Amino acid sequence: MSAATNMTPILTVEHLSMKFGGLVAIGDLSFEAKRGEITALIGPNGAGKTTVFNCITGFYKPSEGMITLSGRDGSKFLLERMPDFQITAKAKVARTFQNIRLFSGMTVLENLLVAQHNKLMKASGFTVLGLVGIGGYAKASRESVELAEHWLEKASLVDRADDPAGDLPYGAQRRLEIARAMCTEPELLCLDEPAAGLNPRESAALNALLNDIKDTTGTSILLIEHDMSVVMQISDHVVVLEYGRKISDGDPTFVKNDPRVVAAYLGVDDEEVGDVLSEVGDEHVIHELEGEPDPEHGPSPSSSMMAGPISDTIEQSGDGAAGSELVKVSPGASKAEIFDRREKARAALANALEAPRGGAPDQLTLIKGIGPVNERKLNEHGIFHFDQIAAWSTADIAAVEAYLAFDGRIAREDWVGQAKSLARSGETTRGGRN
Ligand SMILES: Nc1ncnc2c1ncn2[C@@H]1O[C@H](COP(=O)(O)OP(=O)(O)O)[C@@H](O)[C@H]1O
Ligand SMILES: [Mg+2]
Repeated sequence: MSAATNMTPILTVEHLSMKFGGLVAIGDLSFEAKRGEITALIGPNGAGKTTVFNCITGFYKPSEGMITLSGRDGSKFLLERMPDFQITAKAKVARTFQNIRLFSGMTVLENLLVAQHNKLMKASGFTVLGLVGIGGYAKASRESVELAEHWLEKASLVDRADDPAGDLPYGAQRRLEIARAMCTEPELLCLDEPAAGLNPRESAALNALLNDIKDTTGTSILLIEHDMSVVMQISDHVVVLEYGRKISDGDPTFVKNDPRVVAAYLGVDDEEVGDVLSEVGDEHVIHELEGEPDPEHGPSPSSSMMAGPISDTIEQSGDGAAGSELVKVSPGASKAEIFDRREKARAALANALEAPRGGAPDQLTLIKGIGPVNERKLNEHGIFHFDQIAAWSTADIAAVEAYLAFDGRIAREDWVGQAKSLARSGETTRGGRN
């Protein structure tokens, strides 16, 4: 590898915009990912992170902008002009999804072999003779098995090789997804929230795998994350998105201390940052929709964010009498629709209360995964006590997930289980927030 190639960023994103109707999901975003580094893209739910991935991997065609991938051999690919299958095959960009997508009925090993299907078909010359072992096929197939075994080992999955992928614990499935992507020997590996829902041990195993990829392969990593602590541990470089715009860009220490990022986190602990970012993101979108969205420039940068603490921001987006807006809205949703969905959300929760019993709510933030903003949202939907959450049925959870845009978190973080033990232990520490 020449020094010049070494210096060239693996990925250059320039003035990327993606609009859905009137909603600007990404607005004029530029950043670089350096070769051989782990670059993290962080921000709230709805900040536009997955949309950036969808543009890079050709799933969406961006409204504007350029995405350049520079290969190890000096080749350049303009990804925004390529169809997705070529982005995978030629530019060698691999991705995993926010929701795990494995062939759950196939074994772990089969999942890794299927990933190499294209390579094998090519070696077969797409002929039957090729398949019965004349020519390169036998060699390619031996190599495929070797590569699969290599990644089985790296992902600590050797002893599960013959089990159906769907039987693996969640963290192991996440590693299998990454191993599968690595079997395509990508230049750039894009991971959408790989750490979400992992327990600390699985999280550590994931970090080890990602560091191993960084240290022992030529693959560069672009990682979406909302959990700051994960990002701080393993990233070389962090880009922070808020409402589709970049608010910070630098090494983890710089980003952590950047006043714009700090402002977004006012009054919360580090571990709650993910929560607060997600909630404020959605609030802001609604605020924009209710005001005069500017189709050219989209949601303004975080001016309301900078004006005061997060609680003020939330007040601004509310409509007073009915409390702040709580539901994720699609572009173009009218105020009436938003109101209607909020009412449905309340009705969907069988055990919602008008007010906390005895005027004293439980401190819901004792449930890991619930920060002050989520607590407030839940209160506004008539949920004040651990026992209410403990009693949620699967249907209740689905309703809360859907209407409050909690995106799979309630089940993943087992709020119900946590609430049950808190309710049992009689823990009702008062929040003193209301
Ligand atoms: N296909 C789509 N159609 C309309 N809106 C979309 C689409 N995909 C994403 N969005 C909107 O774009 C914004 C960014 O979404 P997304 O990229 O999924 O955010 P993140 O991954 O940061 O949570 C959200 O407001 C979302 O509702
Ligand atoms: Mg996403």
